[in-house]
Amino acid sequence: MNRAWWKEAVVYQIYPRSFMDSNGDGIGDLNGIISKLDYLKLLGVDVIWLSPVYQSPNADNGYDISDYQAIMAEFGTMEDFDRLLSQAHGKGLKIVMDLVVNHSSDEHKWFVESRKSVNSPYRNYYIWRDGKNGGPPNNWGSWFGGSTWTRDGATGMYYLHLFSPKQPDLNWSSPALRDEIYRMMTWWCDKGIDGFRMDVISMISKPDILPDGPAENGAQYGDFTPYCIHGPHVHEYLREMNSRVLSHYDIMTVGETSGVTVEQARLYAGEDTHELNMVFQFEHVDVPGKYAGWRTNKISMPFLRAVFSKWQTGLNGKAWNSLFLGNHDQPRSVSQFGDDRPAFRVVSAKLLATWLHMMQGTPYIYQGEELGMTNCPFESLSEFRDIDSLNGYRTWVENGPLTHAQFWPFLLFKSRDNARTPMQWSARPNAGFTTGTPWIRVNPNYTEINAEAALADPNSIFYYYQKLIRLRKTYPVIVYGSYALLEKNDPNLCVYIRELAGEKLLVICNFSDKKQAYTLPEGFSGTQILITNLNRSAVDEPSLTLQPYEAVVLRRPV
Ligand code: GLC
Ligand code: CA
Repeated sequence: MNRAWWKEAVVYQIYPRSFMDSNGDGIGDLNGIISKLDYLKLLGVDVIWLSPVYQSPNADNGYDISDYQAIMAEFGTMEDFDRLLSQAHGKGLKIVMDLVVNHSSDEHKWFVESRKSVNSPYRNYYIWRDGKNGGPPNNWGSWFGGSTWTRDGATGMYYLHLFSPKQPDLNWSSPALRDEIYRMMTWWCDKGIDGFRMDVISMISKPDILPDGPAENGAQYGDFTPYCIHGPHVHEYLREMNSRVLSHYDIMTVGETSGVTVEQARLYAGEDTHELNMVFQFEHVDVPGKYAGWRTNKISMPFLRAVFSKWQTGLNGKAWNSLFLGNHDQPRSVSQFGDDRPAFRVVSAKLLATWLHMMQGTPYIYQGEELGMTNCPFESLSEFRDIDSLNGYRTWVENGPLTHAQFWPFLLFKSRDNARTPMQWSARPNAGFTTGTPWIRVNPNYTEINAEAALADPNSIFYYYQKLIRLRKTYPVIVYGSYALLEKNDPNLCVYIRELAGEKLLVICNFSDKKQAYTLPEGFSGTQILITNLNRSAVDEPSLTLQPYEAVVLRRPV
């Protein structure tokens, strides 16, 4: 397998609005991030992925961009950004920018011009269609509720938006639009940024003819995904982007590719396909239920194990994995996959970290994950800020079949705002995030769960992550080794082997809150413990009893 710096790196995702506020307006900002670079350096990560910091009216917290080459005033100025970049580089940290080019804001000047007339030179930058039978051009339902089409008064035609009406989809079949995007990307690369995380990049290509999508019995809207995910020209566009921009710089790229299969990922992120370095797959989090993505159930270990094992073996030697459990769109990882009850929060957060970071791929840490931050006990609808949560409420309660009481648990468990409550820096008011009023409530458990406390405790989750990152830098088998699953059907234990040139790691994870007996495969008793989340100091017997949520990694040298 080819070596690359981005294969050996660990990425830390910052959601700037919620990371650190430097000026007391209650909103995280670039100067706040600068003040925490040493914290990230101490953790040991290599790359920071910044969720969008561009100018935006904030319909979707920056995922609706009105100027791709300006900084959101709430976050600071371009000078602040330049300072962040140079200070990060000075400390050996790289910065990867979010690139949101499936859609822009409706306040972007391209759209402002586009909507004025069918003859506007920008008309073709977006996707306009005539209505049908007095309604929208087809039956597609937006991921943020309602139709994907909004009729615009100036010309009476409809524009496409797979997300909110404030996020019109860009028309990638326009060469002029693609030129603009490549120019803009080049401008950022020339500034010295280190890569792009590409928002919903699997959705940029739409077919010319946009037929109705399949609709479930009685459903108001049809599904656009058969037409818009991995659309007809998506790989062609990415290869063009690669040759026009990406290939000229030593940067890393990761595509957010919802709905991606292993076969598709080998195209997007193949060793020799000249598109992206890696993609995010979502099979372990996008489990459709009766109410679209809304659910209250945790993801079981056997499901998680099956998904990751498929990806580990399916991409090995062919394409590169990205490894994540949390991000700004997901519940907190310890709440979704671990056990956030006080007795088990720390040990299960470390278990998840061990399990994920010992796999092949580039690991991503979402801000606060290194502290074991949990879902937030929101108390009323008025505390939610997220467009997706509020639209979900509208769709399922106000205009739908559920009562408030029925929908509330879904919101509590699955709302994206769980990930967006402020970073918990200390036990001071507002978790030390701001001296003002935070834009979204702080999780009340900050008095106990915070960075200051973690840094003072040698057994904290923070230092455990630090150790995992160091191990990855010390043992190439962690980065490049092959993966083989053992005990395929055990309901509680997830066990796998990594191997590189004869060196082997055995990763044993007990995903249950009960003790479990386990007999080691041959050749591992008496080997070195690389890391463990409890106090085990040796594994000298062929069989052992694992404590609840215990994780142990054994190393057998060549
Ligand atoms: C991606 C982002 C999400 C955003 C959506 C629309 O999924 O991660 O936060 O709402 O795209 O841009
Ligand atoms: Ca601020």
